Amino acid sequence: MGRSRVSIHLLGEPREEADACLQGLLSQGFAADRMLPQDIAAAAKTDILVVTGQYRPLSHTPASLSKLVGARRDRTILFLSGMAPDHFSVFERAGFSFINVTTDETVKSLVGLIAQVDPHAVYSASKAAAMRASMSNKIAHSVVDLFTRLRANPVAPALEDSRRQQRAMSELIGKSPMSVWIDLIQNYHDGTAQHCSLVSGYTLAFARALGAGERQSGRLFDAAFFHDVGKAMIPLDILDKPGRLDPDEWEIMQRHVIHSYDILSRDEDTSGEIARVARDHHEYLDGTGYPNGIKGRQIDDITRIITICDIFAALTEKRAYKPPKPFDEAYSILMSMAGTKLDPDLVRLFEKVVAECVGGRRPVASAA
Ligand SMILES: [Fe+2]
Ligand SMILES: [Fe+2]
Repeated sequence: MGRSRVSIHLLGEPREEADACLQGLLSQGFAADRMLPQDIAAAAKTDILVVTGQYRPLSHTPASLSKLVGARRDRTILFLSGMAPDHFSVFERAGFSFINVTTDETVKSLVGLIAQVDPHAVYSASKAAAMRASMSNKIAHSVVDLFTRLRANPVAPALEDSRRQQRAMSELIGKSPMSVWIDLIQNYHDGTAQHCSLVSGYTLAFARALGAGERQSGRLFDAAFFHDVGKAMIPLDILDKPGRLDPDEWEIMQRHVIHSYDILSRDEDTSGEIARVARDHHEYLDGTGYPNGIKGRQIDDITRIITICDIFAALTEKRAYKPPKPFDEAYSILMSMAGTKLDPDLVRLFEKVVAECVGGRRPVASAA
């Protein structure tokens, strides 16, 4: 038996505000409804309650809301408009951890909070929306096309420089099956969202170079698109630190692979392969990677492919702590890792992707 779907129950007045939230959630694939206070007891324990509408200091007190939701406080979101900042801490002290503390009252920000309560609810919603749209293959092809065009434009090798191209990319991502997750990451950390897109682009190009069929390419695309989803749980000051991470920060950063695995393996509709790649994409053949230091044959082919694309993307994109590296130099670095850390045959074959990036010529070796 698979896990049953989490429902989101909206409580609050005025009705129009709650209805706007409800419509937004339904359109994103959530199982959501409006609920009357007297029906709370009948809701499943795994459901999520959202107290919404206008904040009214007299009726919305920690005591009254605690009484209303009882033991479900840890699955309750306070999504009230007009709450003053000094009230947030009063509610936090009363055990409410999920409060909209921003002035952003759009469904996006509600989805961000739902993801904190239960990432599975967000992921299964994105799946449901995708099933409804049933267009994942079309999207994969559009991304390939867009990526080909991006690569053809030598001024913008990485995606970060062109607003127009970025918009085109997010439009596609918006229709993709993973839209909600990607929305979440995009809201949280633009750099990671762009990185996931770039790794997916390189991966599809690599799949083509390897002669993969449509099904195989689809598997690779999914694995690439999701590989860093757990970075949504890493503090921004670590993700964006302009300098070297200290040992404690590095340890936290490394946890993104475990977060990704946890998020992805909870979903019964996602193949275990996607979660496994997310967990293992920083492992190296010689056992010097993380999180488990597995080596050689323990690392499967699909992970070896994603790892190469991930490193190449990380090198060729701009990060808070470094400028982008030229394609030739990035490929030289991959070459220097071939045999010890990376699959040497795959690195050799990746040359075709690099050649596409540099206008069809062979990459020039440089001292890595
Ligand atoms: Fe990663
Ligand atoms: Fe990555």
